[in-house]
Amino acid sequence: MEFMAIIDAKARAQAGCAVVGVYENGDLGVAARQVDKQMQGLITNLQGSGDFTAKLGDTLMLPLPSGSAASRLLLIGLGTRAGFGRKQYRKALQSAAQALTKTGASDAAVYLAMEPVAELDMAYRARIVAEVFTSQAYKVPDLKTSPKPKARRLAAINVAAADARAAKAAAQGLRIGAAIGSGLGFARDLANLPPNVCTPTYMGNRALQLAKEFSSIKTKVLDESGIKALKMGAFLAVTQGSEEPPRLIVCEYRGAKKDVAPVCLVGKGITFDSGGISLKDPPAMDEMKFDMSGGAAVLGTVRAIAELKLPINVVAIVAACENMPSGSAVKPADIVTTMSGQTVEILNTDAEGRLVLCDAITYSRRYKPAAVIDVATLTGACIIALGNHVSGLMSNTPELAQELESAGIRADDRAWRLPIGEEYVDQLKSNFADIANVGGREGGACTAASFLGKFAKDMAWAHLDVAGTAWLSGAQKGSTGRPVPMLVDFLVHRTKAS
Ligand code: BES
Ligand code: MN
Ligand code: ZN
Repeated sequence: MEFMAIIDAKARAQAGCAVVGVYENGDLGVAARQVDKQMQGLITNLQGSGDFTAKLGDTLMLPLPSGSAASRLLLIGLGTRAGFGRKQYRKALQSAAQALTKTGASDAAVYLAMEPVAELDMAYRARIVAEVFTSQAYKVPDLKTSPKPKARRLAAINVAAADARAAKAAAQGLRIGAAIGSGLGFARDLANLPPNVCTPTYMGNRALQLAKEFSSIKTKVLDESGIKALKMGAFLAVTQGSEEPPRLIVCEYRGAKKDVAPVCLVGKGITFDSGGISLKDPPAMDEMKFDMSGGAAVLGTVRAIAELKLPINVVAIVAACENMPSGSAVKPADIVTTMSGQTVEILNTDAEGRLVLCDAITYSRRYKPAAVIDVATLTGACIIALGNHVSGLMSNTPELAQELESAGIRADDRAWRLPIGEEYVDQLKSNFADIANVGGREGGACTAASFLGKFAKDMAWAHLDVAGTAWLSGAQKGSTGRPVPMLVDFLVHRTKAS
């Protein structure tokens, strides 16, 4: 999908479909007012007759007589002007994208970004257009054998802006939105694929492909012997019961000078989490194919920033393996030595995420990173605490937590801060090793994060628990790609601040 920022007057002449926002109660907004004038009060009449009341998300597609500026007109309800904020703006765009895909339009001129939205400048408004339209066009990589209907693809979106200055801002926003969209698509594809396809090896190959596609990316994939050489005892314990070989995937993006400290993004890449010997209950066990969502998201983020050519350095590190029960599987009570040297008593083999992550976090030290952010579908407890709307955010560095929180708000991919620290670490006491891998049911998301914190000492570190946000259950079952939008926004913002 191609996005282009175009100055209002020019855009309309080229549009196969003009997409125009209308407020409730006869309040037409910027673009609709012009269209209404040109079309002899068409929109005003539709509102008067009650055929289009412009409730938020309403759509009405109208064919236009030949000779009109556009061949079709798509009206989008914006609700009341007073209630029109960033959420409503996104919803309106989603309706627009849906309506356009349904009708098989191949190109459109979108006028919605011309409406003022509280706190959102033109660049951000355009960015959301690109993000929403790309996400809407996303197709799950399914393996259904029935022939797929060949819908005409929405290929070109022109985003109208009032003048040259606004168009320039819009163009910048569109680039970011499209990059987020493509990072999201990358992450969602990996997570949606079945675990017999999306194996650690497969994830490694996709990361190697990224390096082929972008000269700014270098990928290194370590196999079991490489992981052994690093003495990643905790990571190795998780993979030891599985026939599927593990991978440590290291994806380096260079956008700044070599000596600029990178941001390390560490992802949990459990391509299937059965629980191991501490086997999970059968219901919804299939959803544990999404347990590599953190790893997929950090790779998707690297893809997005490579597209944007951001002037920073970023390293994605994914610890990828399966968690399976077998005769060779790690057992409750086994004690392992992590790469950091700390010993861990594995009391529950289903708390495997922190085991692979602790070694990956230790690995990140070699980069002397400016910040380390790990992303993981780590705990069911986080879902109980926060539901499916916001990700859990824990950090040993308040400024970093603040940056991520703000990025999440801007990107509509929010995180909520949860506590970590001594009290929670106390819950992880072991009589036989330095630390146990579980600390009871109470505050399960916080003890898990506090476990990781023990391996992130003296680094600026944050943890994102995306167990509730990385995928949807039910009819809409599938990956959301979160937190790619938050991470990309965070990195974009960092380059601005410095
Ligand atoms: N991958 C799961 C966390 C999870 C559970 C994500 C449900 C999404 C939905 C993780 O590996 C896990 O099993 N965590 C355990 C930890 C417990 C044994 C301390 C959990 O949350 O139950
Ligand atoms: Mn588990
Ligand atoms: Zn897991």
